[in-house]
Amino acid sequence: KIPVIIDCDTGVDDAGALMMACASDRLDVLAVTTVSGNVGLEHTHPNTMNVLRLFGRGGIPVAKGADRPLVRPPFKASAVHGFNGLRGYGFAENTTEAEVALPAAAYMAKLLEEHPEKITIVALGPLTNVAILLLSRPDLAEKIDKIIFMGASYQDGNPSPLGTFNVLVDPEAFRICISRGVDFYACPLDTLRGACVTQADADRVRGMKSAVADFIYKTEFAPRVYTDEEIDRINASGNEELVTRERLEQMNRKEKFALLDQGTMAFAIAPELFTFKKYYCQVECAGTFMNGFTYVDKRDYYKKSDEEKNLFFVETVDGEKFASLFMSLLESY
Ligand code: BDR
Ligand code: CA
Repeated sequence: KIPVIIDCDTGVDDAGALMMACASDRLDVLAVTTVSGNVGLEHTHPNTMNVLRLFGRGGIPVAKGADRPLVRPPFKASAVHGFNGLRGYGFAENTTEAEVALPAAAYMAKLLEEHPEKITIVALGPLTNVAILLLSRPDLAEKIDKIIFMGASYQDGNPSPLGTFNVLVDPEAFRICISRGVDFYACPLDTLRGACVTQADADRVRGMKSAVADFIYKTEFAPRVYTDEEIDRINASGNEELVTRERLEQMNRKEKFALLDQGTMAFAIAPELFTFKKYYCQVECAGTFMNGFTYVDKRDYYKKSDEEKNLFFVETVDGEKFASLFMSLLESY
């Protein structure tokens, strides 16, 4: 089994990725750490513990991480994820049974020090916690097998035309993480749009009987129906865009569902479904219009040396095999 620490900002697609990790027999989930991102830490942290319990793995240690990016004010993606990160889905009670006292970066450091093997970090949110780890304990970089990250792109952004959410929220953290000599695998937005399921798959999920499938259907596949009060809460939360009824309707008009964090988790579970290549990459941190843009140097006539290349870019995904992996892990509950 591959030992992993999952760092996430749960988040509906983070929850789907945790569902996969908890069901997979290929991963040994040592801990989950939480970060501010899709919504604030006051939601992402309890959401993470609650979904792990729902997935039958409430015993996995959970450490609380950064409540804001390294140097910038946070902004949210609560139009997509709802005011509480789970599209308003509420748990009857919160669990804190496996919460650890150490903060995320310190807890990751402890595991890296103590674990006999190298550990893979799967980072599904802004990279703040991982950057704090690498800044505070550079000696532990060699204990990280690789970082697998959801974010970056060739040319397509989501909150901005060129910036992908997890990079744009904390570009300085991304820059730190790709420049410390740790093998870094970016699962970019453009590629992961191919990690998708169809409306027919979503209908199948709706017909499954488990509590986990019910949760995944409601939070990932059901049309977004927000009350006026929820819309007000989203629009007051520092969200990336203003939510209107029209915008919600537009978001609900979908034939396919791209599962971004789930696609990234699939790369951790089954890298054979993907292809990747090493490049030199940098991120814009001081731009006027292009903050968070990750450029990948693909020039043939001016080749970077192997030592200069700093990031593996995941270039293709087998969408059908991804969908069947996702569905079979969900069906196992
Ligand atoms: C990424 O940003 C978040 O909204 C999702 O959870 C995912 O990690 C997509 O750009
Ligand atoms: Ca995420």
